[in-house]
Amino acid sequence: GKGLFTYDPGFVSTAACESKITYIDGDKGVLLHRGYPIEQLAEKSDYLEVCYLLLNGELPSVEQKQQFVDIVMNHTMVHEQITYFFRGFRRDAHPMAIMVACVGALSAFYHDSLDINDPHHREVCAFRLIAKMPTLAAMCYKYSIGQPFMYPRNDLGYADNFLRMMFGTPCQEYCSNPVLAKAMDLIFLLHADHEQNASTSTVRLAGSSGANPFACIASGIAALWGPAHGGANEAVLAMLQEIGDESRIDEFIQRAKDPDDAFRLMGFGHRVYHNFDPRAKVLKLACDQVLRELGIENDPLLKIATRLEQIALKDDYFIKRKLYPNVDFYSGIIMKAIGIPTSMFTVIFALARTIGWISHWSEFHSSPNRIGRPRQLYSGERRRDYPG
Ligand code: SDX
Repeated sequence: GKGLFTYDPGFVSTAACESKITYIDGDKGVLLHRGYPIEQLAEKSDYLEVCYLLLNGELPSVEQKQQFVDIVMNHTMVHEQITYFFRGFRRDAHPMAIMVACVGALSAFYHDSLDINDPHHREVCAFRLIAKMPTLAAMCYKYSIGQPFMYPRNDLGYADNFLRMMFGTPCQEYCSNPVLAKAMDLIFLLHADHEQNASTSTVRLAGSSGANPFACIASGIAALWGPAHGGANEAVLAMLQEIGDESRIDEFIQRAKDPDDAFRLMGFGHRVYHNFDPRAKVLKLACDQVLRELGIENDPLLKIATRLEQIALKDDYFIKRKLYPNVDFYSGIIMKAIGIPTSMFTVIFALARTIGWISHWSEFHSSPNRIGRPRQLYSGERRRDYPG
């Protein structure tokens, strides 16, 4: 192995998988971004500072951070032609379908002059994506409710600007709420990156062919959409609403344990964590605090979620399989408290994870690389001749 952490050489199949960005210890429930524990970043940092850290490898100085924020907040508008893409969708189109299309379409606007081998060009791609994802996300919501798009404001904070584009209208100015803005920023921060999960691996593999970075991010959005991955936060809320009352929790626990029932406890389990997802711990505390500050600490869904977690964590089925709450278990309750509609939960995840995707894409292109080519385990027919 190399450096601080040792790897089982068999585990890292090709250099394409090696990364310096995020480290996870699934057994100990450890998550480090460039060496900094997620708990400390959640307490002391903010989303754009973590974006700088993931991209550049170090925390920014005060001046570097201000310059980074200024550049991002001055790239928040999308090309006006993008608005025409929305006209082609039905109003009830899933916003993740629209995001895949519109982010992919950005590759048509930023293509010809782009040299992915130039570090400055890669940095500009990152700035544009971090800046424009909130604008596109809010446009998806406005389109679904028949309200006009709200243009971004360069003078607002990142989370505040997003919430204003979501909930402001030309007729009534959005009143900033620092509790909601801080909770939104924390949701973004906790979803920023998570090593080489399904969607990040998709972006790295697409990027390894030299494809346009905006098209690569669109492939990550598509992979994240699935209910086993980023779509789980939307599924958690649907599950809690279906449970409806604490008295029905046991019924759903039994269903989750039934091998003949496809139902799984949404927001539980993880491909890597076989201990608490450290993000879930931070989100649970934040959940309690945000709902208390908003005066809705008795939110019925939070009570069901808390009781469900208590019961599952004592149940042998979950203990034996090391199934614990993951990042999606509490995030939906906070987003619902902020006023984000359930249909937009996975879009928020995609918005936040864009920095992780583009950091991994940029890291891949920052050193000599080869196209990714995962090998298969062939289990088909041996060679045979055509009859006759
Ligand atoms: C994310 O990779 C990442 O880092 C992803 C992510 C990120 O930040 O990018 O962390 C974000 O995607 C979090 C995960 C969100 N998904 C969900 O909450 C959906 C519900 N969770 C499950 O679908 C499942 O736990 C997975 C998909 C997350 C993990 O699946 P694994 O590792 O393939 O586990 P498995 O299917 O092999 O299950 C092992 C056992 C099985 O039972 P047995 O066959 O051994 O009897 O545990 C059971 C499973 O049936 N099991 C569950 C369960 N998760 C696993 N049983 C009930 N409820 C569950 N949630």
